[in-house]
Amino acid sequence: MTTKKRIAMLTSGGDAPGLNAVIRAAVKSGESLGYEMLGIEDGFEGLIGTPRYRVLTDVDVKELLNRGGTILRTTNRGHFNGPRVVGQPDDPYLQAYNNIMGMGLTGLITIGGEGTQTIALALANMGAPVIGVPKTIDNDLAGTDRTFGFDTALQVATDALDRLHTTAASHNRVMVLEVMGRHVGWIALHCGIGGGADVILIPEIPFDINKIAEHVTARDKAGNQFTMIVAAEGAFPRGGKPIYGDNGRLGGVGQMVAEQIQALTGKESRCVVLGHLQRGGTPTPYDRILSTRFGAAAVRALHEGITGEMVALSAQDITTVPMIEAVSHLKTIRPHSDLVRTAKGVGTIFGD
Ligand code: F6P
Repeated sequence: MTTKKRIAMLTSGGDAPGLNAVIRAAVKSGESLGYEMLGIEDGFEGLIGTPRYRVLTDVDVKELLNRGGTILRTTNRGHFNGPRVVGQPDDPYLQAYNNIMGMGLTGLITIGGEGTQTIALALANMGAPVIGVPKTIDNDLAGTDRTFGFDTALQVATDALDRLHTTAASHNRVMVLEVMGRHVGWIALHCGIGGGADVILIPEIPFDINKIAEHVTARDKAGNQFTMIVAAEGAFPRGGKPIYGDNGRLGGVGQMVAEQIQALTGKESRCVVLGHLQRGGTPTPYDRILSTRFGAAAVRALHEGITGEMVALSAQDITTVPMIEAVSHLKTIRPHSDLVRTAKGVGTIFGD
């Protein structure tokens, strides 16, 4: 057993480009401050039963900065798919807490999104020393201006929209691009503005399909024979609810919009669902830098005795915020925000 102080980290929830950059920065920062750095495998699942972890050194994090995914692997939901039920047999939260305390950690870095930090907050409330790092391509975590992973997903989505633009124009078609984002529309809104979409559909602004059809027809009459639509997977019609597939997973609104627009306007319409392409591959330089900043800041915070908080981007600065701030609500788009008004100002509609 080492006499060195120890910091552990885990990656949890849907993966995002930048996870390995966070791991790399945390290991390098921790080693420079004299800590033994530990990587817990498969997210919080690695804290169930006999803890599964390994020592991470500078050697283990070579070539990680630009590598997508996570060398520690991750789990989306698993045993922690819901709030703690005190007294339940084999209480996963109690198992995780006992393992964290048994490992003699100065702190545990929980790298994940809203679901991950909700679990981390429960463990912090039990007395575990945790510090969160905000990860998700959805950018829906409150308490931080930006989560890492979002910029890379936006890059993938905007490139896809650019490519769909040329085929739509060649065929005088309506093309619908369905992007991820869960129950917020940040990817769709930014991709729509950056890719010049004619229609942007987001959960924060329920849409009227007839208004979209009218817009397509008006564009036709004005000589614009094709229309580009970006739909967030969580978008839904006015008076309706989000669309789920037979597999019970969010998605399908893009295909529904394409079919309805074709029926209403007579124009050929197609839908492309980007899915997990937005989660894979190398992070953009922005995400590499933000991830590095977050990882280093998490170690510094633990070294300074700060726990129960999440590192965050606030304008240009990295700070920490109480974890409750990050998980109490989702960061959603304000329908009258500058971004929405900018899109409308350049002729994009939201179906409202
Ligand atoms: O939260 C990130 C995210 O990619 C969402 O945008 C998406 O709805 C969800 O994860 C997909 O989860 P899974 O990878 O478990 O299918």
